[in-house]
Amino acid sequence: MLQKTKKSTNFTTHNDNFDKRKRKMKTLVFASNNAHKLEEIRAILGEKYEVKSLKDIGCEVDIPETGTTFRENALQKARYVKEHFGFDCFADDSGLQVEALGGEPGVYSARYAVKNGRQVTADNKDDANMNVLLEKLANEENRRACFRTSVALIYEGEEHFFDGIVEGHLIREKRGTGGFGYDPLFIPDGYDKTFAELGTEVKNGISHRARAVAQLAEFLRSV
Ligand code: IMP
Repeated sequence: MLQKTKKSTNFTTHNDNFDKRKRKMKTLVFASNNAHKLEEIRAILGEKYEVKSLKDIGCEVDIPETGTTFRENALQKARYVKEHFGFDCFADDSGLQVEALGGEPGVYSARYAVKNGRQVTADNKDDANMNVLLEKLANEENRRACFRTSVALIYEGEEHFFDGIVEGHLIREKRGTGGFGYDPLFIPDGYDKTFAELGTEVKNGISHRARAVAQLAEFLRSV
């Protein structure tokens, strides 16, 4: 019945347009369930790509991240999705690298307190991680640090990497209430406030993640 109506008129419904757009879109999986990251990446990539989450493809596994670099961890996640679900896919891994600590916490950023033998709950994880860092740097004058994000993309049989870095320094006590993770300790170069004080809009304009994602988006627009 619907078919007949379509053939006999030039009338195009909102749904027809939506279906056509979707047919032209290429599906890419972002190996994450982080709603904020997904929203951000969908807005950047626009209509050319349909970005699905792990949940969207029915992947319920906590994909292992056992690498020693951000790139290795990101690639591990992207490969898992490609191998088990068949989709082209990208994944990210991020963290803080402190010069005086030889690049620590690095890939252990999310679990730095646990790695250093502290009792941690879901509620005090960020505080516990920052406390360990402050203790280790208590007598250290060199406060240089950077946040780094690596994105790994598997696209039409090839693997690509995009890295974003923001340089700065760590202060001696926490300041600010915004953001997450180590934000209250980190002042990016060119600013006098921590990421937690600067707020989401400023942070998202200069962050490691934003820089890596911008390169990914540029690549995807170009292919
Ligand atoms: P993920 O790979 O984005 O999940 O980040 C791993 C860990 O690195 C987080 O749990 C945080 O401890 C730290 N981290 C990553 N990005 C940021 C950031 O933008 N601000 C503060 N901490 C971060």
